[in-house]
Amino acid sequence: MRTETPQTIRLEDYRPSDHLIDRVDLDLRLSPHDTRVTATLAIRPNPAGEAGAPLVLDGDELILLGLECDGQALPADAFAATPSGLTLHRPPRRPFTLRIETQIDPTANTKLMGLYRSNGVYCTQCEADGFRRITYFLDRPDVLSVYTTRIEAGRDEAPVLLGNGNPGACGVIADTDRHYAVWHDPHPKPAYLFALVGGRLDRVATRFTTMEGRDVAVAVYVEPGKGPRADYALDAVVRSMGWDETACGRPYDLDVFNVVAVSDFNMGAMENKGLNIFNDKYVLADPETATDTDYANIEAVIAHEYFHNWSGNRVTCRDWFQLCLKEGLTVFRDQEFSSDMRSRAVHRIGEVRTLRARQFSEDAGPLAHPVRPRAYAEINNFYTATVYEKGAEIVRMIRTLLGPAAFRAGMDRYFAENDGRAATVEDFLAAFAAESGRDLSAFAGWYERPGTPRVTAAGIYDADARRYTLSLRQSLPSGDGAPLVIPVALGLVGASGPIEAACPRVPDGVFVLEATSDTLTFEGVAEPPVPSLFRGFSAPVRVEMNLGDAERLTLLRHDTDPFNRWQAAQSVAMRLILDRAGARLVEADEAGPAAEAYAAALGAFLDAEALADPAFAALVLALPSEGEAANEIGRDVDPDAVHRARQTLRRHLGRSLRGRLESLREALAQAAGAPFSPDAASAGRRALINTALDLIAMADPEAGTRAAEAQLSAASNMTDRLAALAILAQIPGKARETALAAFGERYADEPLVLDKWFALQATIPEAGTLDRIARLRSHPAFAMTNPNRVRALIGSFGLGNPTQFARADGAGFALLAETVEALDRVNPQIAAKLLTTFGSWRMLEPARSSKAGEILSRMQARPSLSRDVADILARTLA
Ligand code: PHE
Ligand code: ZN
Repeated sequence: MRTETPQTIRLEDYRPSDHLIDRVDLDLRLSPHDTRVTATLAIRPNPAGEAGAPLVLDGDELILLGLECDGQALPADAFAATPSGLTLHRPPRRPFTLRIETQIDPTANTKLMGLYRSNGVYCTQCEADGFRRITYFLDRPDVLSVYTTRIEAGRDEAPVLLGNGNPGACGVIADTDRHYAVWHDPHPKPAYLFALVGGRLDRVATRFTTMEGRDVAVAVYVEPGKGPRADYALDAVVRSMGWDETACGRPYDLDVFNVVAVSDFNMGAMENKGLNIFNDKYVLADPETATDTDYANIEAVIAHEYFHNWSGNRVTCRDWFQLCLKEGLTVFRDQEFSSDMRSRAVHRIGEVRTLRARQFSEDAGPLAHPVRPRAYAEINNFYTATVYEKGAEIVRMIRTLLGPAAFRAGMDRYFAENDGRAATVEDFLAAFAAESGRDLSAFAGWYERPGTPRVTAAGIYDADARRYTLSLRQSLPSGDGAPLVIPVALGLVGASGPIEAACPRVPDGVFVLEATSDTLTFEGVAEPPVPSLFRGFSAPVRVEMNLGDAERLTLLRHDTDPFNRWQAAQSVAMRLILDRAGARLVEADEAGPAAEAYAAALGAFLDAEALADPAFAALVLALPSEGEAANEIGRDVDPDAVHRARQTLRRHLGRSLRGRLESLREALAQAAGAPFSPDAASAGRRALINTALDLIAMADPEAGTRAAEAQLSAASNMTDRLAALAILAQIPGKARETALAAFGERYADEPLVLDKWFALQATIPEAGTLDRIARLRSHPAFAMTNPNRVRALIGSFGLGNPTQFARADGAGFALLAETVEALDRVNPQIAAKLLTTFGSWRMLEPARSSKAGEILSRMQARPSLSRDVADILARTLA
């Protein structure tokens, strides 16, 4: 490997391909080290391209064995072939057939891009540019072809053979131990949606009849013996298929829909046409091994990949700059699905927590980029929270601006007009503009401008005139530029409940802030109001308003919007943490009167509502994370001070609410009961039971230890068991070590559970954690070749252990950097992802940030970095 000079690819340089490939016939003879691929391509000049241009096919680590054009071998001076490309200097100026034979080694493929083996199972990953590791091709999303795939393999090694589309002929090959299967996909697709699987797999299956009357065979394939753990995923597929029909009018379009779970996978899952391939973490679940969060994630990722069949596959992206066109939209769709399956309010809070933790921090650091980037050196580094999560918020804002009916009409028009095409963000917006009659050109700024906008609000109440005046001002961190179009869902709340007041500029509770600043006047306001702004988090902005704690706690009590009730409690907690962290207080306790008032308000809230909605109550009790607090501080951050401040507040909450928390635990334990069910209501009860225990343990570590040990041994499910273990892990001593060791042994043969065990230990906020991680790196279950394991141990450390990752002596940074360097030789994509944990380094106080800077610069001086890592490094240091 050598460091390639990163070549920048720019949106403005987009040109249509000079050639098109209408049909692809693939013949793959699978073999562990010597797989042979014969591709027969029906190629023609693209009328929209340059006539007579050479044919330049992409490749990556390919060995060319044979090449024929229209049945003829080509003279040596007619083409040039290297592992990374195949050029025909003077291709025919009419349709022609190219036959290419390549050789690849799936067993040696540790990058997990292209064709590789995971636990012996052959599988593929082609997005964004992995198809070129299988055969030479026009590996770009605007070249759409109809694929027929013949897969051949040893009958014993790979009894199951799956491809895209519908199954065709299959059979054994006479006088050999091999067999084959042919798959045909009638829907033209870009190469990144190609997939195949071959291996020993168990199958769980059902049938689904679409609204058009198509009878679909739906199946989930998993490692032998794990069939029972796929039932929940299978059910989630069926629910997704139903939801996309009833909520969006989108039926499925093939006779089979297959999901395959593999254990080595770079991302969450992949939407290959008719053959979704999953990280098994997002498929396998049973009460013994999966937490409530796992169940919710499985439901969401299954839905996400299924929904891509329309938003991504039927309508795909013209180029990778349009990635948000499929990802932002599909995240929005999966979020809507989960909200319909579970509690909408609780789900919304979860979405916003993720957005703030991952996207806001990305947008505030050196890796910030627009939702539609304008340039990239390595596209695989742009599968980011900004493209996915902020991309979803943009779609949600369109719905808020247009209202549900025009939004749905716009979606229908987008699908109708772009079906079978490779589309752009402009095509997407045009569909909504056409349906609503609205000009969305100013709104398009959301796709172009990086950084989290700030909206500052100030209110004046005139009691005599019974008038409330609210002024709003927006600004982007990048400074000037045209203002954004920001939907502000808002209302007024008084001391005893919501206030009805007239303001014609807020129809249906939504004001659209289009200017840099604007002022709203509410008439007939009988009492001093508290504004409830950005209800439901109606725009991905930071809101600043000088409200007192008492006013915020009024919102917690009386707002009609559950999101803002939660937000109100969070804002009070955040201010308490920041005040304390800012003062760099070292002494442990001394909560102060503001913290007393906060705890009292939470106490009253729990009394009134905890049993009615435990999931919501658990969220209200959870404090903002240390990462969120650091982002809020923004500069000169001392993670130890943040940690201490937050711990102090937790301890204080635990002490003040102790009696209530204990009785809640009892009441909920009775309601929870057996048998286990992963539904949202049951999960909500468990969430509150465990949040309560966590606070109790903060207040009284001894009692907490006893209760956690009891819960650990009595638990009937992984949620309760892991929550108890997590609480024990925070309390130094023998109980912790005993519990960790027992858990590690009990689940020695359960990789997905071991991941939780690794992650939990990596996030212990103590100096000894570095040694612990060093020991765990030589644990027999740890492997650099398995992305889940690396993410569990090292990724969790970088993301979830701010005091130890950013240790003042630099040892945490060094650990991360060493891992990135070692991993880069195995799997550059995962190495680059790990490296993004340095994204907030400039925000740290000078001693820490200079340590981080030194370590990053040293890495940059190394001679053989992958393009993936070199790109992140260059941007992080820029
Ligand atoms: N497209 C996948 C998704 O739905 C993500 C992915 C990207 C998977 C690249 C693998 C490689 O989110
Ligand atoms: Zn996706």
